[in-house]
Amino acid sequence: MSAEASTYNYTVVRQFAVMTIVWGVVGMLVGVVIAAQLAWPALNFDLPWITYSRLRPLHTNAVIFAFGGSALFATSYYVVQRTCHARLFCGPLASFTFWGWQAVILSAAITLPLGYTTTKEYAELEWPIDILIAVVWVSYAVVFLGTIVKRKVAHIYVANWFFAAFILAVAMLHIVNSAAVPVGLLKSYSAYSGVQDAMIQWWYGHNAVGFFLTAGFLGMMYYFVPKQAGRPIYSYRLSIVHFWALIFTYIWAGPHHLHYTALPDWTQSVGMVFSLILLAPSWGGMINGIMTLSGAWHKLRDDPILRFLIVSLSFYGMSTFEGPMMSIKTVNALSHYTDWTVGHVHSGALGWVGLVTMGSMYYLIPRLFGQKKMYSVPAIELHFWIATIGIVLYIAAMWIAGVMQGLMWRSVNPDGSLTYTFVESVKATFPFYVIRLLGGVLYLGGMLVMLWNVVMTARSGQVQDVRIPVINPAHA
Ligand code: HEM
Ligand code: HEM
Repeated sequence: MSAEASTYNYTVVRQFAVMTIVWGVVGMLVGVVIAAQLAWPALNFDLPWITYSRLRPLHTNAVIFAFGGSALFATSYYVVQRTCHARLFCGPLASFTFWGWQAVILSAAITLPLGYTTTKEYAELEWPIDILIAVVWVSYAVVFLGTIVKRKVAHIYVANWFFAAFILAVAMLHIVNSAAVPVGLLKSYSAYSGVQDAMIQWWYGHNAVGFFLTAGFLGMMYYFVPKQAGRPIYSYRLSIVHFWALIFTYIWAGPHHLHYTALPDWTQSVGMVFSLILLAPSWGGMINGIMTLSGAWHKLRDDPILRFLIVSLSFYGMSTFEGPMMSIKTVNALSHYTDWTVGHVHSGALGWVGLVTMGSMYYLIPRLFGQKKMYSVPAIELHFWIATIGIVLYIAAMWIAGVMQGLMWRSVNPDGSLTYTFVESVKATFPFYVIRLLGGVLYLGGMLVMLWNVVMTARSGQVQDVRIPVINPAHA
């Protein structure tokens, strides 16, 4: 057997891991810019390319698909190889997924500021880029599932179940929601119209949260939490129940984004009920992750990487409690259109997705560069604290602003007229926008510390081939 065939393919994992950090910095920087623009609109400088409405989708695409997507590619390719004791299936195709995904990101970074958009949230990219996404994604499925097929161990570890579900579901969501009629190179019209279009879009949008921002990152959690804690997962049985319950329930919850719209009322109620049910599998997963530490809680005191992972699970628990509450129609009547939604989004995005990614990358990066640990452990500690303080400032400011806006908008005088004009609610929100900006700057600051630490680790390390252990077929 050649040396190439008997080692893991870490090259593509390393490429995606490095780009995770780079895109994290870029996407969060754009987040900070738009947060500043909301506080001081003059920062739009009357330039169309950097106006808020064009930078906002640039931010969401950069943090979700460039930062989050690269992290998911890196970790899934690493985990599937390690847990299957097999080299990644079809190296050239894996390499194509890296370059193809970077091409998607660059196309987004060019077309969005130029104003090309389908206007569908989280699916703004125009049809030629959508076709490239579909090709890259199907290649991803072939590489990932191909590696599972050629595995040397009989068992398929639960993290791979989550990654596989995320890959397959995102392929289906993207292809169905992006169906469109092109009328020019960068202009198309959705294949659906009216309320069906809205329904398909939020079936996609909600499951982008459920499968991209949740199932994929749960795959990460199921590998890196036990690894970093040095303990097996708390309950393997719970992880299987968690998997099937989560996958089955998420797909029905989309209509909670369309309460009080033209969507039939019963559909909205189905969305609400499934969202409430979703609390159970979500918390099952959180408890499984956190309880993995049972008997080893002391490790949290001196291991900042573990702290990233466990605090991320706490935020996951918090946002999956808040989400079902916000899906209750009467609560949504207050929260919808307000900054409460933005607070909810970022407790999931910064607290769960961001922290679990950072913890996993701190585990992964030294190993990819042939090092035992990161260049500076105190820098990881510093990152943890400024990121956590940043999240708390961000989400607390948005919660207060959101509830305040909702209450101001619904307040009426005895004669039935509105108590407050809209602009009064905007003025009252200003201090909270400044606090959110401060939180964002801290979170971005943490990411810059991480970038420095990664560069120093890469410079002092050297890339090595890691051999695949030989398994006795009798035990496989
Ligand atoms: C430095 C960190 C960040 C800052 C300062 C920031 C700031 C912002 C701002 C100002 C908005 C627009 C809110 C509005 O329309 O009123 C926004 C939207 C959004 N951001 Fe971030 N963000 C950050 C990080 C992230 C990360 C890491 C993610 C995902 C992993 C994320 C996901 C989103 C999403 C999904 C939206 C759209 C929310 C909605 O439509 O309700 N953000 N962000
Ligand atoms: C049990 C789990 C969850 C449920 C039931 C849920 C429910 C909800 C509800 C009801 C809304 C407000 C819809 C509206 O008024 O427009 C919402 C918005 C949102 N949630 Fe969640 N959520 C959950 C978990 C999460 C997590 C973990 C994340 C992030 C990682 C997240 C990301 C988002 C985003 C991005 C939006 C804004 C969508 C938009 O309007 O652009 N959610 N969610």
